[in-house]
Amino acid sequence: MSLRIVAVSGSLRGASSNSALMLAAVRVAPPGMTVEVFDAIADLPHFNPDLDIEPAPPAVAAWRARIRGADGLLISCPEYARGIPGAFKNALDWLVSDPAGFAKPIALWNASPRAVAAPEALRLVLSTMSGRVVEAASLTLPLLGRSWTPEELASDPSIAALLRASLQSLTQAVEPPTD
Ligand SMILES: Cc1cc2nc3c(=O)[nH]c(=O)nc-3n(C[C@H](O)[C@H](O)[C@H](O)COP(=O)(O)O)c2cc1C
Repeated sequence: MSLRIVAVSGSLRGASSNSALMLAAVRVAPPGMTVEVFDAIADLPHFNPDLDIEPAPPAVAAWRARIRGADGLLISCPEYARGIPGAFKNALDWLVSDPAGFAKPIALWNASPRAVAAPEALRLVLSTMSGRVVEAASLTLPLLGRSWTPEELASDPSIAALLRASLQSLTQAVEPPTD
């Protein structure tokens, strides 16, 4: 059975390097792993506990279902003003009331060595939500300064090798089913 990894970019920008990384992961996924990109965080309403009731807004239900169905997660998120971009923090806030759904291994990718505060903040937020950041699967790549397409990332031998090794480490962190 193939492992299901859900990949989410924290950037809404069309030519986003973080989103390109998520699409490159789809291309370099090792055998036995399927990487699915969730690219609809912009559709989520602003988080409001008053709206966090059943039935959840449709965009929220779709987001939660994708996360629940994943064996592991892949996140690549830019840094804005030394923090987590609002749209991505908003997406995470919608998962807080369902922490069991989020208790899975997470590979954290970072497209910029300059970004230090956002990855640190993300580690704190994700661990608070029962997420398990797998350090062996986490990567920082120097992608700023040019615009990479997913195809270019996946066909660059050294980048593709790093991405593949990260996904292998994530595979190892996924616990085998107990039954
Ligand atoms: C509003 C804004 C604030 C930013 N703040 C920071 C920052 O505090 N630290 C940093 O390293 N980069 C910062 N950046 C640069 C982005 O992190 C960088 O452009 C990144 O590549 C964006 O990711 P993307 O290509 O996936 O959209 C900022 C960019 C914007 C647009």
